[in-house]
Amino acid sequence: MSDGNIRRVKTAVVGCGMISHIYIRNLKQLFSIIDLTTLCNRTEAAAREKAAMYGIERVMTIDEVAADPEIELVVNLTGPTAHYSVIRQMLEAGKHVFTEKMFTTDLSQSRELVELAEKKGLLIGVAPDTCLGAGIQTARKMIDCGLTGQITSGFVTVTRNQNLNSEAFKFLQKDGGAIPYDVGIYYIGALITMLGPVKSVCGFGAPALYHEKQLLFDDANADNWTIPGYNLITAALEFESGTLVSVHFNGNAVGGERSRIELNGTEAAMEVGNPDTFGGKVTLIRPESEPVTMPFTHGYNGINMLPEKSPFDFYGNRGIGVAELAWSIRKGRKNRLSKEYGLHCQEILQGIDEAVQTGKRVDFVSRCEVKPLRSGFYSSMNGMRGDAERSLAE
Ligand SMILES: NC(=O)c1ccc[n+]([C@@H]2O[C@H](COP(=O)([O-])OP(=O)(O)OC[C@H]3O[C@@H](n4cnc5c(N)ncnc54)[C@H](O)[C@@H]3O)[C@@H](O)[C@H]2O)c1
Repeated sequence: MSDGNIRRVKTAVVGCGMISHIYIRNLKQLFSIIDLTTLCNRTEAAAREKAAMYGIERVMTIDEVAADPEIELVVNLTGPTAHYSVIRQMLEAGKHVFTEKMFTTDLSQSRELVELAEKKGLLIGVAPDTCLGAGIQTARKMIDCGLTGQITSGFVTVTRNQNLNSEAFKFLQKDGGAIPYDVGIYYIGALITMLGPVKSVCGFGAPALYHEKQLLFDDANADNWTIPGYNLITAALEFESGTLVSVHFNGNAVGGERSRIELNGTEAAMEVGNPDTFGGKVTLIRPESEPVTMPFTHGYNGINMLPEKSPFDFYGNRGIGVAELAWSIRKGRKNRLSKEYGLHCQEILQGIDEAVQTGKRVDFVSRCEVKPLRSGFYSSMNGMRGDAERSLAE
C-alpha cells in the first residue's frame, strides 16, 4: 500500500507464547505500516524458535528492546500478570505500546500507566482488537446510519468451561483468568465500540469451582486449583446514552462455548456474532420481514487472505489494533483502541466485581469513544490482498 513516503514503524514483540504465532505472522505480512524486526521472550529459546519460523531478524532481551533507539512500538503478548511491568518499562524507555488484554490486573496500575503515557506523549493500545473487525464495525455502521433506530436495550451472554480451558492455557489459573477478564472483555469491548461509554453497573457473582485436573496427559500441570475472582456474573450496564444491557458470563459451564449478543432498537432488533472473532454475522430483524444477514461494510472479516495457510488462522486478523496504532503514530493522532478504552473496559469489569462485593451500584467517571473505521474497504480483491489497511490509516 502506498501512502506517500510514510516510514514503517519498527516494532518488537515481547512474549512469544501461544497467541504470538498469529500476531507475528500478521504483523510481518498483513500490514504495510509495521516493520517487525525483533522478538523477545523471558526464555530466549521460545523467541528464537518463532524468529526462525517467521523470518524475524533479531532476538533481544527485554532490556535490549528498551535500550534500542530504533524500536518505536512494542507489542506486549505476555500473560496478564506481567503486563504492568513490561508496559511500564517500555513507556519509560520512550516506546509506544500495544498490549494484549487485560490492560493490567490492577486498576490503579492501569491508571498509573495512563498518566505516564500522557506525560511522555506516548500511545498505548489495548486489546481486544476484534472490535475493529468486519462484524462489530458493520454492526456499528447499522446503528450509525439509522437502520436500527435508537438502541434502547440489549443482552450479551457467553458460557465456557473455564476450568478445563485453564488446563491448556495455564495463565488462566492466575489473576485475569476468570471468564469476565479472559472472555467477557471481548463483549465489553464490542459493546463500548457499538454503544459508547458506560455510566453505571450493578451485579451478582459467584466464584470459580474448585478444579481437579482432568486432562490426564499433562504431567506438568498442578493437581488442583481454583481460578481467582468471580467466574460467573450477571450484571446490568447503564450506558451514557441511556441504553440498558444485561450481561451474563458463566465460566462454570460445561462443554463448548455458547455466545450471543442481541440489541433492541426503536426501529429494528440486531443480532451480532461472536465478538471474539472478526467476522461475526450481523442480522437485522424488522417487523413484517424475514431477518436479514447484512453484508459486511468493512474489511478484516478474520479470513486469512495470505498465500500460506496456518494452524493459527482461527485467530483471524489479530494485529489490526497494532497497525491502527502505528498509523496513528505516523499521522499524529489518537489511536482508536486507546488507553482510555483499555481503562474503561477494565473499570467496567472491576466495577462489576465491586458491585457484587458491596451489593451497590457503581458509577464511573472515566469515558472513552471508539471512532468507527471508514467503511467501503475490503481485505481481498481478485484473490489478492485488498485495500482494507486504508481504513486503518484514516
Ligand atoms: N491464548 C489465547 O487464545 C489468547 C487469545 C487472545 C489473547 N490472549 C492474550 O495474549 C496474552 C498471552 O497469551 P498466550 O496464550 O500467548 O500466553 P503464553 O503463556 O502462551 O505466552 C506468554 C509468553 O510470555 C512470556 N513472558 C512472560 N513474562 C515475560 C516477560 N516479563 N518478558 C518477556 N516474556 C515474558 C512467557 O515466557 C510466554 O512465552 C495474554 O494476555 C492473553 O490474555 C491469548
